[in-house]
Amino acid sequence: MPATQSTEAGATPVLALRGISKRFGAVQALTDVDLEIRAGEVVALVGDNGAGKSTLVKTIAGVGPADDGVIEWEGRPVTVDRPHAAQELGIATVYQDLALCDNLDVVGNLFLGREIVRAGVLDEVEMERRARELLSTLSIRIPSVRIPIASLSGGQRQTVAIARSLLGEPKIVILDEPTAALGVEQTAQVLDLVERLRERGLGVILISHNMADVKAVADRVAVLRLGRNNGTFEVASTSQEEIISAITGATDNAVTRRRARSAEVAEVAGAVEATAATAAAGAAEAAPTTQAAEPAQADKAGEKADKKAGETAAADKTAQAGHADKAAQADKPEKEAGA
Ligand SMILES: Nc1ncnc2c1ncn2[C@@H]1O[C@H](COP(=O)(O)OP(=O)(O)OP(=O)(O)O)[C@@H](O)[C@H]1O
Ligand SMILES: [Mg+2]
Repeated sequence: MPATQSTEAGATPVLALRGISKRFGAVQALTDVDLEIRAGEVVALVGDNGAGKSTLVKTIAGVGPADDGVIEWEGRPVTVDRPHAAQELGIATVYQDLALCDNLDVVGNLFLGREIVRAGVLDEVEMERRARELLSTLSIRIPSVRIPIASLSGGQRQTVAIARSLLGEPKIVILDEPTAALGVEQTAQVLDLVERLRERGLGVILISHNMADVKAVADRVAVLRLGRNNGTFEVASTSQEEIISAITGATDNAVTRRRARSAEVAEVAGAVEATAATAAAGAAEAAPTTQAAEPAQADKAGEKADKKAGETAAADKTAQAGHADKAAQADKPEKEAGA
């Protein structure tokens, strides 16, 4: 296991996703998604139901490869087209259902599929020794490594599943909703473990719907909305409300769309205002109509202008067409986001 240092923020990401897109038939699940994870960093991946979190994780885990985009590992593009490829790189995934065997004990579960065999028989003593060692380095408290998984609490099971993912000595661990079904005490236990993974220099992707968990352990939050990036935030300097706004799309109005469209909107608004003002004044000169403009107000203002101002100078029409086009373009992202 890489018991390494945590890394400064500027370092090359261990894992970087660039422009990942994925479609299921008519559903565009992911569009042009970027994500970076560095060593010693916990990145929370958040978003509403259906935002594309699981789909994104599956592209990283090699379970459902992307249609488009690049996955970079330590700065180099790689192909992750099957789970084995992800594991070989050093990507471990703990799925929400954990995939533990209730009837096996903790040792049996930890070494399931990678049993230690000596002279043709299972080396139970060695596996038990390593299991104790692993659990103890992670400060995981389990009554006994020889009790069946079925008799452990939800939190203990989750920690066993995470411990198991570490046996392959990954550099990136993906945890899909690790605290979703847990109580307060058990959640704390799992979050403590996440912090220990970071201390060991691992990069952690934490999928969560729980903002308290995100605030408690994540360094950064990447928000997905309708299959697209909707902001990445430093947890320390971002309020819970801001993150929730990005998830629900409230920032579509306040931030995203404003940033994308401010220039065009100002221009169109200016044109509309000028139109209305000119129309009201009854000036026949230089009163641009906005028939082709998409926004309702623009149409109304345009009608007003048409009625009151009457004929418009032909030379202005060229300019209006420009505005109208921009207004139509500017309106597009809103429609897509709302679709
Ligand atoms: N195998 C599939 N076939 C068809 N559509 C799919 C498939 N998997 C996911 N989708 C669709 O892709 C979109 C993203 O789904 P995804 O499961 O990634 O969301 P999520 O963010 O993980 O949501 P949740 O928080 O509910 O787990 C959804 O519209 C979903 O219906
Ligand atoms: Mg999901």
